[in-house]
Amino acid sequence: MKFEIPPLPYAKDALEPHISARTVDVHYEKHHKGYLAKLQQAIGGKPLAKLSLEDIICSPGDQHVFNLAAQVWNHTFYWNSLAPGGPSQPGGALAAAIRRSFGDVDVLRRELAHAANGEFGSGWAWLTKDAEGGLHVFNSDDAQNPVRSGLTPLLTIDVWEHAYYLDYQSEREKYVKAVVDELLDWRFAEKNFGA
Ligand code: FE2
Repeated sequence: MKFEIPPLPYAKDALEPHISARTVDVHYEKHHKGYLAKLQQAIGGKPLAKLSLEDIICSPGDQHVFNLAAQVWNHTFYWNSLAPGGPSQPGGALAAAIRRSFGDVDVLRRELAHAANGEFGSGWAWLTKDAEGGLHVFNSDDAQNPVRSGLTPLLTIDVWEHAYYLDYQSEREKYVKAVVDELLDWRFAEKNFGA
């Protein structure tokens, strides 16, 4: 088995009360691992299986394989974008870049929430960095991933219904508010910004 999903970076109940242990369990064990199993099935024994996940994501060609590889990558990135323990503030070079691109972190939080709530169907909201260090917030449909566009992801929010339906039913805005205000891991974003 070439591709593996890392263990969750925290206990399944660590994001409560904002995201329940049940949601994390189903999301990680069924959805995330399900994408991996389907990816292994789709590329097993083929030349693609020798590539890294990132290289598969950046390869033109099979949309089905892209969707599965990107969903595996996006979910690992999502788990790492969240952290228990209450809201944190961005610091260091990232804080300076946020001031340059957005004015202050509250504007960035509002833009992230707007992008997440504005995604029409299933998808993702992203904070990314371009080659010049400029920051960008946008949403993407389905499995789409900024790595393919040459951007460096800093944080992501999963806005597929399976990310919030058990806890919030159709009220995506409440889930997004909880993630943006309470769970985003700005230390992880700082690390990605400096990478
Ligand atoms: Fe998901």
